[in-house]
Amino acid sequence: MCGIVGVIGRQDATQVLLGGLEKLEYRGYDSAGLYVNDQHGHDHLIRRVGRISALEAAVMPDIQGVMGIGHTRWATNGRPTEANAHPQVSSDERFYLVHNGVITNAQALADRFLQNVTLASDTDTEVLVQLVAVFARQGLDTPAAFKKALSLCEGSYACCLVDRLDPLHLYAAKAKSPLLIGQGDGFYVVASDALAMLDRTDQFLELEDGEVVTLTADSCRIETLAGQVQHRTPITVALDAADLDLGPYPYYMLKEIDEQPAVLRRLVSRYVEADSRIAVDPALLTALAAADRLYIVAAGTSYHAGLVGKPLFEQLAQVPTEVHLASEFGYHQPLLAEKPFFIFLSQSGETADSRQVLVNVKRQGFPSLTITNVATSTLAREADFALDLCAGPEIAVASTKAYTAQIAVEALLAQALGQQRGVPAAQAFDVAHQLSLAATAQEAILAEKPTVHALAGELFGDTRDAFFIGRGADYAVSLEAALKLKEISYVQAEGFAAGELKHGTIALITQGTPVVAFITDPATAAHTRSNAQEVEARGGRVLRIAAASLATPDDELVVQDVPSLLTPLVTIVVGQLLAYFTSLDRGYDVDRPRNLAKSVTVE
Ligand code: M6R
Repeated sequence: MCGIVGVIGRQDATQVLLGGLEKLEYRGYDSAGLYVNDQHGHDHLIRRVGRISALEAAVMPDIQGVMGIGHTRWATNGRPTEANAHPQVSSDERFYLVHNGVITNAQALADRFLQNVTLASDTDTEVLVQLVAVFARQGLDTPAAFKKALSLCEGSYACCLVDRLDPLHLYAAKAKSPLLIGQGDGFYVVASDALAMLDRTDQFLELEDGEVVTLTADSCRIETLAGQVQHRTPITVALDAADLDLGPYPYYMLKEIDEQPAVLRRLVSRYVEADSRIAVDPALLTALAAADRLYIVAAGTSYHAGLVGKPLFEQLAQVPTEVHLASEFGYHQPLLAEKPFFIFLSQSGETADSRQVLVNVKRQGFPSLTITNVATSTLAREADFALDLCAGPEIAVASTKAYTAQIAVEALLAQALGQQRGVPAAQAFDVAHQLSLAATAQEAILAEKPTVHALAGELFGDTRDAFFIGRGADYAVSLEAALKLKEISYVQAEGFAAGELKHGTIALITQGTPVVAFITDPATAAHTRSNAQEVEARGGRVLRIAAASLATPDDELVVQDVPSLLTPLVTIVVGQLLAYFTSLDRGYDVDRPRNLAKSVTVE
């Protein structure tokens, strides 16, 4: 999704902005731009379609500034063109604005206030900056004009505004979309993501919805739209900028796949006490234990991790658990149990669909937990409780280590809850030991990369379609493996319940159709094998991936045994590598697949 950066008080503002934009590249974008002002009467606006490198190439050495704003745009309103790129500028060229989010009543605002303004773009952002200019022309000072314009907006925004007549001030505001203010020695920065400015400062001020900020080089004033001044203490963002280094890797996705065993071990040492008890907030366990049903709400890969979590909570904690797509739950809330507890799974902690549900369930008074990789994120802040995935920054758009970390945290929490409720299955399940086994099993697969690469080439080299099948946890992992292949190699892939194939979808199997079968559950292995044979009888090419204790000579990949509740931690590594090598061999940008964004902050 779009990314915002801003800075005031740095002689090297252009470089600060470009560096920040580069670090936001991973979020996904299709155009970029910046505006800088040297506070001595010189300013520049540059926008380009495509990569940041195109923008950098257009920034001549003499384009310097002390303050400015920058943006990566992931098109929502209007195509990715230079005219639609940000910063958007008012017709009188006084105001420059970068914006994330969607102003849903932009057309109505334009009809009401901008009849005499010719819009130069198709964006809702331009409507906002033109409104500021209109209200300024009516006599309001810039902060008042900005606040008046924002108070009319419906939808979501994080934005940063410059008044070129007053380059000693920089303005920012937020509603629903993320935005942080970074505090440095004699300067301030603005960013939609701390990663963007981590090499400049680790001190950040979190903004609440409906707040407006006025920055100078050495002051920061936060107030509500109604003008009430707010006091905020900076938080330290404890991230190592070195985590962002690619090191010897060609792509972040491969680095992040390789990091998974270390993440599992880190989670064990973070959450498991010497006496094997799970170290989570007792108040969280009390709130969970009071619930008669858990509702896991998530999107995309996080939703798939939720599917793996359901049997963990049901078997280890004996609590009925439902898993819901956030985008569906938000507007079609099912009939709830008497005492629901909501668990939000989100790598970024910023997914707008999930946040919409969180806001609703909070309004209804239900307790909530966010499990996220970004401790400072909106979902982490707004839920009653938060648990950290401890996975380190995930930069590749395709989520890998966050998925396995989510499953591991669900397992840890399910065991903690089971212990709290005195469930025998939880007492017997040594989650720390099982996660350690899973880490070792992951390493064994990672050592097989050349084999997986060759299989990826043979199965998916030039295919248009593919299927992943399995039952139970193997079905859940099929969904995730198919999503990985779709996202980065653009193969039409489907994850399917193995037993359901024969009820219609098997009609799509023709000579050579690649089908990956996951076989890790003793209870269903024979059935899945039959389903694989049904595919082969129709010409399909089946790759069988089996657990060691169930393996037969037909199985081309064998993974080490772990309890069937946790097999996705291991089998998905094969799915991730198959997708990675397919994308690589097809010559795609593995980390930045087309049309996708890392942090999906619009509904
Ligand atoms: O940040 P979140 O986990 O809430 O994101 C949810 C999805 O947008 C995300 O998992 C998406 O499906 C990824 N591209 C998957 O690789």
